[in-house]
Formats: sequence, structure tokens, C-alpha cells
Amino acid sequence: MLDVVTDKADSYRVHNETRQGEAYAPFAHEPNQFKKRFYIESYGCAMNFADSEIVASILNNEGFGATKIVEEADLIFINTCSIREKAELTIRKRLTEFRQLKKQKKGMLVGVLGCMAELLKSKLLEEEKLVDLVVGPDAYRSLPALVREAEGGQKAVNVLLSRDETYGDISPVRLNSNGVSAFVSIMRGCNNMCSFCVVPFTRGRERSRSADSIVAECTDLFEKGYREVTLLGQNVDSYYFLDEENDITVTFAMLLEKVALVSPLLRVRFSTSHPKDITDDVLHTIVKYENICNYIHLPVQSGSTRVLQLMNRTYTREWYMGKVDRIKQIIPDCGISGDIITGFCTEEEQDHQDTLSIMEYSKYDYAYMYFYSERPGTLAQKRYTDDVPLEVKKGRLYEVVELQNRLSLESNKRDIGKMFKILIEGDSKKSDQDWAGRSSHGKVFVFPKEHYNLKKGEYAMVQATDCTQGTLLGKIVISWAK
Ligand code: SAH
Ligand code: SF4
Ligand code: F3S
Repeated sequence: MLDVVTDKADSYRVHNETRQGEAYAPFAHEPNQFKKRFYIESYGCAMNFADSEIVASILNNEGFGATKIVEEADLIFINTCSIREKAELTIRKRLTEFRQLKKQKKGMLVGVLGCMAELLKSKLLEEEKLVDLVVGPDAYRSLPALVREAEGGQKAVNVLLSRDETYGDISPVRLNSNGVSAFVSIMRGCNNMCSFCVVPFTRGRERSRSADSIVAECTDLFEKGYREVTLLGQNVDSYYFLDEENDITVTFAMLLEKVALVSPLLRVRFSTSHPKDITDDVLHTIVKYENICNYIHLPVQSGSTRVLQLMNRTYTREWYMGKVDRIKQIIPDCGISGDIITGFCTEEEQDHQDTLSIMEYSKYDYAYMYFYSERPGTLAQKRYTDDVPLEVKKGRLYEVVELQNRLSLESNKRDIGKMFKILIEGDSKKSDQDWAGRSSHGKVFVFPKEHYNLKKGEYAMVQATDCTQGTLLGKIVISWAK
């Protein structure tokens, strides 16, 4: 099910099995060898979840161990998201709950990390007195020093954004992982100025991580048994790394190829592609390597050229449709998903109809759908009036969701009878007699384990036999033990 009206929609995009606000405990059951314990809860996009793994690594090196039990923690961190007002409200509520805990446990410190830290800065410390540390996404290396400051009774803040921080040399501690799929951050920040979006303000300028460090991380993951990496960036197609030693510029297409070559058994995914930047080179690279998944997340935001212009997306309706055609021409069986915002400033019924028709045209397999939420400091907040009434925004969102439900079901029905190579991610949620895994084009499959002696992280050829709107059911046809 696509949950759309709340911000749980983001959790779906992060990982099917990862919930918003889920706590992590990679070493929860190890002996008590750590001087302090930290608890970390993450909200927002996959980048934030990947960042929490970097934070865990930095804290771990300082001798702090993670715990899943919040009452047990000396340090509580909340890695926050500001993308919509709803996300911030959820986090504020959580902070008041932590304040209660602080009253009961002397010396417990609460830290706000991530995008809200950047937007609210010292406001969180001074006006609201909810927290002891405020640390922005580019300042995690200073966390140990800031913790010491906070322990000494000072209010600790570092929200400086950097032009070059990529945490490229830090090996993330894999948190709450299924041991099969992992996120690998390839760049940070965003140079686009979509008028609705806070990300350029919370994450700063775009910068790319060195290709060698990315390939090394993927190789290490593969050696540890992982079989799928998702390369992460706000706009992966503008990845650009100058390899001075070899005097070459590594583009995203080249990076994809390098990662695909780590092993044919390692699946490669990526997110997010901005329609204006995805190149034919990338599409041809996807076709060239069987292990690069045939799936592209291509957010459209609106189907109306007029609204797209106000959003500063820099493409028209026709241009986007042409991009979808191009993808299907080069990669005929490519899965495509989109992001939609309803009720952006000045949106009229006709603009909304244009959104519905572009969704039909694109035949999205999935979509992440939101109603517009005005954010402080964005271009839209400065230039335009948030003039579409909330009921209208929600009504249009409802129609968008209804349409997507139908499109997802139709897309799944088209797959019945076909065969798909599935990477097994683990037991299905409902039964340990069934496996759950995904196809290259990103769909969730559930199928009986039968007599095949398979393990998670292995592949099976599965024929789709039936479906719901969210899942394909199938039967193993061929199994590979490796
Ligand atoms: N860099 C990614 C998206 C990051 S934010 C990209 O360009 O696709 C994820 C999604 O949140 C966006 O695609 C957009 O659909 C939605 N979003 C961003 N700002 C929003 C706002 N102010 N109100 C509602 N939805 C928003
Ligand atoms: Fe936001 Fe646009 Fe950048 Fe995506 S590309 S993070 S929507 S500014
Ligand atoms: Fe939210 Fe920041 Fe990601 S605002 S969506 S956590 S980049």
C-alpha cells in the first residue's frame, strides 16, 4: 500500500522494511564494553538514513555503543527532516517525549541532527530548550567534541555547511540492515533550486564523493555478503568527480559502470534522477550491465508546464514525456516511478488534470505523492502565495492516489505470466515459508520457498502468477545457490 497523506510515504521510498523513526542498535547485544550508549532515530529520505550510519561510525570510534532501548541511552539523537511541515511536527512531538525522559535520567543528552538542525539552528536550543546539541548534516565529524561540550553544560551547536565534506573516508556502520541491501552515498547537497524545496538550504552546495572511495565501499559490502547497493544523491545524474591522478572526469554513467563491475552478483540501483539531467549514456550503461537494475525514479512533480515553470523544474510537460519515451525506447522493460506534489501555488483544476494525464502517460509502477507544504526560506515562500485551500490540495491528492493505485495494479497485472530474476531479501512478512525479494524493475515478489535450498542474498527465477496492487506472487522456476 502506498501511504500518501502522511510522511510515512517517505519511509516507503527509503526501504520497504524500514519505518520512519525506527531506532538502530547494531551492537545492542554485545557485552557492555562501551563508555556511553547512544540511541538514534531517523526521519526523512534515504540520505538521512545513510547519514545516521556515518554518525554511528563516528560515535563508535569514540567508544560509544548503540542501543535500541531509549531509556538505556546516555545520548539520544534524532536525525531530522524538514521537507514538509508534517515531518517537523512529528519530530517536535518526539522531542517533547525525550524531554520527559531527560527529567528522569540525570546527565542524559538530546541532540538534533540533520535538516531541521540546519533550518532551526539555535532556535531549538534557546527558545525551546528541548535539546542540548544541534548538529547539521555537514558537521558530524565534530560530534565527539560537541558531546564533550554538552557534557560540560554548554549548549553545543555546529550547523556550518561545507563545500567539500563527503565523509568519503568514513565506513558507515550498517544499521538495522537486512544484510542484503545497503545505501551508498555518492554525493551531497543540491544545486537545483526547485522553488518548493528546502533541501538546497539544509544540505548546501552539491559535491561528489571520490569514485574510488565509492567503489571501495561497494566492494567491501559485496565481500561482506551484500548483494544490492543503492547509490544515493539528490540528483545523481549531476555526479561529477575529477580524478586528478588519472586526469579524467568521472560522470555518473562511468561511476555506474565501475560499480557494476564490482561483481555481476551485485545489483546496482540509484536514486534520485532529475529528468533534466539523466543522459542517454546512463540509459545505455543500464542496458549494458545486467546487474544495473532496470528501474528509474524520475520525479515529475506536476504535469502542467505552467506550474513546472513556477516550480523551477526547468522542463516542460512535453520534454518530460519525451524523456519517458526515450527511457522506454532504450530500456523497454524499465520500471519507472514518480513524485507528485498537488496544490502548488496557483494550481488550477486544468493543471491538476494535466498531472493526472502525465501519470497515465508515464504508466508509473509506483509514485510518492504529497500535497504542497510551504517551507520557510524557499523561493516559493518568498515569491508566491500558498493560495490553494488545504481541502482542495487534499482532494486532488486523493485523486492522484486513486489513479496511482489503479496504475500500480495494472502494471502488476501486465507482469503476470512473465519470469523475473529475484534477489531474495528475507522471509515474507506474513510467513517464514515464503521468501520476499525484488525484481530488477523494483517490484516486490513473494513466493513459496518450496524444496529449494535458497538463502537470502541469493537469486531465483520466479514466474509471476498473481498480484495485488503492492506485491506480485510467484513460483520459483530456476534457483541459483550463489
Ligand atoms: N532530490 C529529489 C527529491 C527530494 S525531496 C528530487 O529532486 O527528486 C522528495 C520529494 O518530496 C520531492 O520530489 C517532492 O515531490 C517532495 N517535496 C519536496 N518539497 C516539498 C514541499 N514543500 N511540499 C510537498 N512535497 C515536497
Ligand atoms: Fe529539492 Fe529539486 Fe534539489 Fe530535488 S532537485 S533536492 S526537489 S531542489
Ligand atoms: Fe528531509 Fe533533508 Fe532528506 S529535508 S527529505 S531529510 S534531505
